[in-house]
Amino acid sequence: MPTSGPLVDRYGRVHDDLRISVTDRCNLRCVYCMPDEGMSFLPRTDLLSFDEIERVARVARGLGVDAIRLTGGEPLVRRGLVGLVARLSALGFADIALTTNGTQLAALAPRLAAAGLKRVNVSCDSLRVDRFATIRRRGDLPTVLEAMDAAETWGLTPVKVNVVLVRGHNDDEILDFAAFARETGRVVRFIEFMPLDAQGEWGPEQLVTGREVFERINEVHPLEAVTGPDRVAPAERFRFVDGRGEIGLISTVSQPFCGTCNRLRLTADGSIRNCLFSDDEHTLRDTLRSAGTDQEIEAILRRAVWAKYPGHAINEPDFLRPHHSMSMIGG
Ligand code: 5AD
Ligand code: SF4
Repeated sequence: MPTSGPLVDRYGRVHDDLRISVTDRCNLRCVYCMPDEGMSFLPRTDLLSFDEIERVARVARGLGVDAIRLTGGEPLVRRGLVGLVARLSALGFADIALTTNGTQLAALAPRLAAAGLKRVNVSCDSLRVDRFATIRRRGDLPTVLEAMDAAETWGLTPVKVNVVLVRGHNDDEILDFAAFARETGRVVRFIEFMPLDAQGEWGPEQLVTGREVFERINEVHPLEAVTGPDRVAPAERFRFVDGRGEIGLISTVSQPFCGTCNRLRLTADGSIRNCLFSDDEHTLRDTLRSAGTDQEIEAILRRAVWAKYPGHAINEPDFLRPHHSMSMIGG
């Protein structure tokens, strides 16, 4: 394992993208994420403080990490998040983004933009008011559409729209979302439903693959792959051949992209995860809270990246679900 230079895994991939989950809590209970009742959350003292998060980010910045994404749970339910964005922004990251459910974004967009946030991904799994409410159990569609408008007004662009497809729930809206992408210029990203739901109800029959999405859209509105200097990303990008709009396919389950993934995750309780599907966590919190040095933090980051597996094994018969659901790991 190298002891200097950027964060590399044993396959030589540089890891320069850090996703930070700032809370495991959320004001919603989406059906594919959390049970309506009985979800247990981390005690507040287990959550990293903003000082601790900033420290990890500073060490990571020194190791060449240049992109940060704040996730949750729902990051905007964490009080003072705008202040954290400002502190991270001062560390000089090229990109600071936020994944949000959009319920509180419209009001916060101007302050987030002023603090240095560059762009947002907004989750929105249906364009039908009734269905949207059913999927989220709380929350309403107009608020989220207004949040996307506000994000554009304040320059938090390009706005990306995350759609988790679940067979029998919203797979009949694929073409509506394609039309939405074409009309608004927002990048709609279709995400395969992953076995990270807290209820453990995931089954392969609920999976709508990226391939199917491609075929259904391409039949009506021909697509072409977008290639280019864009940073490594798990989304396969396609633009409409007539030049109107773009979509992304995140085929985590059917086409594991671990082999090209450059992401590291800091969980809300201070562990470093090298993969969404790995239970192998490297805790930073104890080091942070016991007067650990920056060198020790660096060593934990290096070890976590070095320990990365070539790919996850959702499709293998002996795949074990991670013990944590998405809301704890952060998307
Ligand atoms: N499968 C796929 N995506 C999920 N998300 C939450 N739970 C799941 C799941 N089981 C998504 C949210 C959001 C991002 C943070 O993760 O919709 O876009
Ligand atoms: Fe909250 Fe996102 Fe989970 Fe929905 S998917 S309950 S918005 S964390």
